[in-house]
Parts: sequence; C-alpha cells; structure tokens
Amino acid sequence: MFVCSCFGVTEQQVKKHAEDGACTPRQIASACKAGTDCGSCVRRIQAILGRGACPRRELVEQGASALAELDEAA
Ligand code: FES
Repeated sequence: MFVCSCFGVTEQQVKKHAEDGACTPRQIASACKAGTDCGSCVRRIQAILGRGACPRRELVEQGASALAELDEAA
C-alpha cells in the first residue's frame, strides 16, 4: 500500500528506511523524497514511525516537532 502517492513510496519502504535509521519524517524525506511534494502523507509517515518502526524513540519525539514545523510552513 502506498504511503506517499506523489513519489510512489510504500509503507514497506518507509519501514525499511526507519530500520536503517531515518527516525523523523524529515529523514524519511531525505531518504526517499516521501512528503516533499504535497505533504499529505507526512502524518501517515509520522504514524508509521510512531508505531515503533524506528527503535530510537527519542528521535521519534523530534519527528513530532519536525511535523509541527512542516505544518507552520504549509
Ligand atoms: S503523497 Fe507524499 S508528498 Fe504527496
């Protein structure tokens, strides 16, 4: 199932990037561009990260503030 339809990024790909150390939506964006076009998938990415895809929880918390920044920029 696609998480980011703008770039055709699947949930599996997001989980893989998270396992490789991308713990925030911004780091996922750097890895595969997901979230950098319309931005509507950022909350889905955040939800995947929040479900524990990334083992480093404190960085997930930073992801929440990165999301807030994205909201302000929109
Ligand atoms: S759906 Fe991901 S940037 Fe548009």
